[in-house]
Amino acid sequence: MRTQTVPAIRVSKVRSGSDPLVMVTAYDAPGARQAHAAGVDLILVGDTLAMVVLGYDDTLQVSVDDIAHHTGAVARGLASSGIESPRPLVVGDLPWMSYHTTVDEAVRNAATLIRAGAQAVKLEGGRKRLPMIEAIVDAEIPVMGHLGLTPQSVHAVGGFKVQARQHDAALELVRDAKVLAAAGCFAIVLEAVPDAVARMVTDAVDVPTIGIGAGGDCDGQVLVYHDLLGIEQHIRPRFVRRYAELGSAAVGALQAFAADVRARRFPADAETYHLSADVAETLSLYGSGAASSK
Ligand code: KIV
Repeated sequence: MRTQTVPAIRVSKVRSGSDPLVMVTAYDAPGARQAHAAGVDLILVGDTLAMVVLGYDDTLQVSVDDIAHHTGAVARGLASSGIESPRPLVVGDLPWMSYHTTVDEAVRNAATLIRAGAQAVKLEGGRKRLPMIEAIVDAEIPVMGHLGLTPQSVHAVGGFKVQARQHDAALELVRDAKVLAAAGCFAIVLEAVPDAVARMVTDAVDVPTIGIGAGGDCDGQVLVYHDLLGIEQHIRPRFVRRYAELGSAAVGALQAFAADVRARRFPADAETYHLSADVAETLSLYGSGAASSK
């Protein structure tokens, strides 16, 4: 059984014989327990929280407090899961503007996520973020990098688009990945890049790459919980594979509940609390049909 620690994950390269890493996002205690029961290696409390849970159109609307709040829920869910196998590593996503101003602020915000229950933080961007990455690593907080499509730059890059399709941009991405690995990042997420570019990065660095829309040659894969379970209906990027249709199953269940209530089929006797015969009698209810001794 793999032990989900940062040092163990740092050396999980497929080329060294490791199994691909499995990461999913989770935002609450039940999601975390399900991910743990499924045996994932890492849980990312992603800033996709903004889009899949809180109803925003992009990830820019969540704060450090939001991510800390949900990281706490995930950590408590894992702690109370009763599952014997090693817990997945919890990675808290540093949201937009939590590491863009000063190094000091970046370190303090990373510490907030650690105190909320994460064992590591993730942040987006390449060389530009180097001083922040170095300072956070220096504070003994493990950092996961994130390159390619970085959704916090949605306005700067003009939308959620595949990145590094051109020669120079591909080489730039490889350079950035090397810089992140040298700065101490223990893993790097590659989002929405051509598979050949993801392969170049994976070959170029000694830390694992974790792909999302980056082809099959990364050292691991990540999907958003709501996407892979089919909870979200309106957004479906090409790289998502749905393993369930829980969104439509939920609508079906809610419709069945509504129909049962309206037809007075819910609640049934077994779903109802009853007074004892004695108490019913003292209330003058005995025999009225409003109470029974069951
Ligand atoms: O916030 C998130 O969920 C992410 C994943 C898409 C990698 O960054």
